[in-house]
Amino acid sequence: MVKVVICGAAGGIGQPLSLLLKQSDLISHLALYDVVNAAGVAADLSHINTKSKVTGHGKESMDEALKNAHTVVIPAGVPRKPGMTRDDLFKINAGIVRDLAEGVVRNCPNAFVLVISNPVNSTVPIVCEVFKKHGIFNPKRVFGISTLDVVRSSRFVSEVNPKIDPATRVTVVGGHSGVTIVPLLSKLPHGFVDSLSKEQLDALTHRIQYGGDEVVKAKDGAGSATLSMAYAGARFTLALLDAVIGGKQGLIESTYVNLDADPQATASFKEKTGLEYFAQDVEFGPEGVSRILPLPTVSAYEQTLLDNAFPELKANISKGVSFITESA
Ligand code: NAD
Ligand code: LMR
Repeated sequence: MVKVVICGAAGGIGQPLSLLLKQSDLISHLALYDVVNAAGVAADLSHINTKSKVTGHGKESMDEALKNAHTVVIPAGVPRKPGMTRDDLFKINAGIVRDLAEGVVRNCPNAFVLVISNPVNSTVPIVCEVFKKHGIFNPKRVFGISTLDVVRSSRFVSEVNPKIDPATRVTVVGGHSGVTIVPLLSKLPHGFVDSLSKEQLDALTHRIQYGGDEVVKAKDGAGSATLSMAYAGARFTLALLDAVIGGKQGLIESTYVNLDADPQATASFKEKTGLEYFAQDVEFGPEGVSRILPLPTVSAYEQTLLDNAFPELKANISKGVSFITESA
């Protein structure tokens, strides 16, 4: 039995994400939890003739939804409106994510937990702190989904240089907001970066870092990225399941994790930067994180981006940590 729970399943991301996951034979039970309309979305999806069973769980049934889950994906919470930062969502989403993490503690303490709700830089530390408080924390099993930054990077790079296939993976490190999103474009083939002027490189980097704002502005008050996020979320979830259940090796995605997931690989980075969390390329294995790949040698341009990212990341992490450690 592989039970995957989507928390926030009736939302803008939750619905298409559930649809994409319904297509996978790796999942035997898709449990849809939301405070509104979970039953309706579940009834609809349950008619699709793929292998998984679909169940819907409303407001009062969080424990039932999470019971014995293998994997929990969390896109629950409010999205941005124009003029807002992701950090502005903390006030509402921090409590939502904390309560869901408490539900995981009660019902499926060994589950893999995949966090989409913003601000990811802070919500992942919130989940980890709740788990630490209850003595069930395993850093190899908690992930912040930053895949959308990779998806956007690949797409935008291919638009700048059509020789680069849009499926080419770009390593994006740091976090998931503005300056904390650091694409390592110098690693791309065909002398990609050298073919760009400084202005072109600045413009591309800015577009990747603020891709979310592009969508928020275009939706004009109706929310943020949902469809591209569902695509990115499904890609990440299925890659993890492919490794954990399917035993596939060599699957790598960039993801925002607690660096204790691979203490040996990250010890010197942690000491140098003081950061406990960072998005980096991670190879999946049966335990979740199999290893965190070493940070590649970066260009001087990318080092400046990293230096700009560290202080904001540190502040975001400490805000998430204190939300749990300083509450009664
Ligand atoms: P949405 O408002 O369309 O959907 C959110 C859903 O969560 C709603 O159906 C709502 O009922 C539900 N919900 C609210 N509180 C809940 C609770 N306590 N338990 C269960 N469900 C609850 O929003 P959306 O567009 O789907 O975005 C969801 C979140 O994902 C936002 O925080 C957004 O910023 C974030 N997001 C992250 C990324 C990323 O790259 N990680 C990308 C896009 C959006
Ligand atoms: C994104 O990158 O699209 C998401 O984090 C949503 C947002 O608020 O921009």
